[in-house]
Amino acid sequence: MHEYFHLKMDKKARNTSGKYKISGRNDLIPLLQEIQAEKGFISQESIKELGELLGISTTRIYGVASFYDGFLFSPKARVHIRICNGSGCYVNRTFSIVDVMAEELKIRPGDKSADGRFSIEMVDCMGACHLGPLIAVNDKYYTIGSERELRQILGRIKKDEQAGI
Ligand code: FES
Repeated sequence: MHEYFHLKMDKKARNTSGKYKISGRNDLIPLLQEIQAEKGFISQESIKELGELLGISTTRIYGVASFYDGFLFSPKARVHIRICNGSGCYVNRTFSIVDVMAEELKIRPGDKSADGRFSIEMVDCMGACHLGPLIAVNDKYYTIGSERELRQILGRIKKDEQAGI
């Protein structure tokens, strides 16, 4: 059975229920969002099935999905970092959080580190704009006042992760 076979099977039911309706190629983004919300990431298998369902090549689907920072292509790591990309946080940034994370953790949004310990995701407003710029490390939130502060936080996280805390 296909991982997302229910998307095809449910087409009629979905169109009469509260679930997102499938009508054509324009449904790609909402379906990708639905899969990510359900599974936590967009697998190769789900890209293939979406391609069959909507009549779009897997290359095109991957291209569209990778254009948006919010989609993950592998499961979240033990330490999952969310970077708020909402406008409230964005305007308060004085440096690139993504570039510092790439330097410190060797990954960018949508990636998981080779050792499986860290993953990063860009997200919309996390609801505390007055504290921004904001990141969340698993369920813990941090206000990032400076580049130095971010490097210190990442250093502590790496140390804790190595120690198994
Ligand atoms: S914009 Fe970042 S918390 Fe609202």
